Amino acid sequence: KKKVVVLISGNGSNLQAIIDQCHGQDADIVAVISNKADAYGLERAQNADIPAQVILSKGKTREVFDGQLMEAIERHQPDLVVLAGFMRILTPEFVRQYQGKMINIHPSLLPKYQGLNTHQRAIDAGDAEHGASVHFVTEELDGGPVIVQARVPVFDDDAASELAARVQTQELRIYPLAVKWFCSGRLIMNGAHAELDNAALSPAGYA
Ligand code: GAR
Repeated sequence: KKKVVVLISGNGSNLQAIIDQCHGQDADIVAVISNKADAYGLERAQNADIPAQVILSKGKTREVFDGQLMEAIERHQPDLVVLAGFMRILTPEFVRQYQGKMINIHPSLLPKYQGLNTHQRAIDAGDAEHGASVHFVTEELDGGPVIVQARVPVFDDDAASELAARVQTQELRIYPLAVKWFCSGRLIMNGAHAELDNAALSPAGYA
């Protein structure tokens, strides 16, 4: 089994999907760490008997916080670090430490809409499609190799919250898939590319 540490900042619906679909199979979630004390995902971890820990980011420099976070993660010697709604930009040192072993989910069809407010930006741009991307984390923010994407339609009268809900439903499908691929040894990062062997996917890599 591959040891997985999940980092969260909030609700943890992606964490829950990974607990439900991956934990105890190829993946063993050994710790959940939040940078916010009130993250609901901490309760989800506790309900699944997974050790949960808070390392507050507030009031700390990026270097100090990332140092503490790395120390906490290293105690578990994980094979994979999963960012699941973890709303922090990480230092280059931290990212380098987990290169090829850290994945993130981002609520847009990358390379479109890196950063925040992705749903409103897709609506404002008049996009017909929007979605979510799972990618390896590299030093370029939201710029690492894409592993899998899910697409949803954008309707004319969509509010950002409605579009977000539609995207999040798809996130809960593709993120556990990517975790399973990695933990079963089928997925690796090879330079600028995510490589998936024997993929039951369409050529473009869409689930
Ligand atoms: C998800 O929609 C995820 O894509 C997004 O935060 C949400 C977390 O939900 N992540 C980012 O915006 C990263 N920049 P969750 O806590 O319920 O999993």
